[in-house]
Amino acid sequence: MIRKLPLTLIGTLLFSATVFSQHKTPLLTLIDTALNNAIRQYKYLATQVPQGVMPKTYYPVKKLETSSTSWWTSGFYPGSLLYLYEYSKDPAVKEEALQRLALLEKEQYNKGTHDLGFMMYCSYGNANRLLHDKKYEEIMVNSARSLSTRFNATVGSIRSWDSKAWKWPVIIDNMMNLELLFWATRHTGDSSFYKIAVTHANTTIKNHYRKDYSSWHVIDYDVNTGNVLAKKTAQGFADSSAWARGQSWGLYGFTVMYRETKDKKYLAQAMHIADFLLGHPNLPADKIPYWDYNSVDIPATYRDVSAACVEASALIELSRYAGARGAAYLSAAEKILGVLATRTYTAAPQQIGGFILKHSVGNIPGNSEIDVPLTYADYYYIEAMMRYKALKAKK
Ligand code: GLY
Repeated sequence: MIRKLPLTLIGTLLFSATVFSQHKTPLLTLIDTALNNAIRQYKYLATQVPQGVMPKTYYPVKKLETSSTSWWTSGFYPGSLLYLYEYSKDPAVKEEALQRLALLEKEQYNKGTHDLGFMMYCSYGNANRLLHDKKYEEIMVNSARSLSTRFNATVGSIRSWDSKAWKWPVIIDNMMNLELLFWATRHTGDSSFYKIAVTHANTTIKNHYRKDYSSWHVIDYDVNTGNVLAKKTAQGFADSSAWARGQSWGLYGFTVMYRETKDKKYLAQAMHIADFLLGHPNLPADKIPYWDYNSVDIPATYRDVSAACVEASALIELSRYAGARGAAYLSAAEKILGVLATRTYTAAPQQIGGFILKHSVGNIPGNSEIDVPLTYADYYYIEAMMRYKALKAKK
């Protein structure tokens, strides 16, 4: 397992906080530069990705890695292109988005994954929001139906993996798939999707969260009784640790829960998670977290830019609901966006295969995707920038 970072890189990453503090350019200007850079990068990436597949990551030696549409990250590339189209109205960006979107259509019937929210809402959700097509609506309703088949009322959760290594595993990441269900109830009037989302979220609060509002990664359940069998990690440093991306998934997920239900319990949960993350003694000065808040290798270990991107996007939304705490959440998101725009984290033109951001990790215990670009880091970065622009345009 490669958990430790080369010493030369540690210096570069520690230096990034200094680079940020020297910024004089207003954040909105930095964001416009970053979005225009993202469009150029993704136009280059489009020339590198073979037909029929989706980009996944890029390794210095093995180069571009792609996936089929059944992989959980398949919606992020078309979703990012759609945000970039929304920003630029560039027809070439739209064309690439629509071509890749068409590949995903068959996944609406995929009942073998809990990740349909990621796959179909980040892609078709944005397509429908921007282009309003009945066909997209039908695909999303079918996707919500497929996702709902994985719900078990005794456990009160949507099942994550089908692997035989677990009985009924539920991972914190699954909070991200509930937004699709809320959309489906709004669209169809069928409240069963809404009820599944609320039940899943309540079970998650009960069993995934510790007293300090950090979250376990995986809870394994007895499907006959709903009892918890084990509290584990798969991608974190230890069962008892706070795996960074998992914490960001939870923050984002409970912010969506409050938006969709207006139940103050979810707002409180999201704010407690935000306060845990932003007050953590192991959070670096530039607010780009290490891959696990409790890694014993800190500071000689990897950052996870993807965790920072998800967190920034969630904090921008949460800042609108959080009353007096809102300013602190927005300020943290601003710092993250400013630092991501520096060369420490933003790739130079046509570098790293055309991805936008460097230094994410997928799965360190699995020895895969370590210190690489990831489509979901790029997606939530672009989303965060778009959310920030929209927020500022309203004021
Ligand atoms: N949902 C998988 C991950 O965050 O790596």
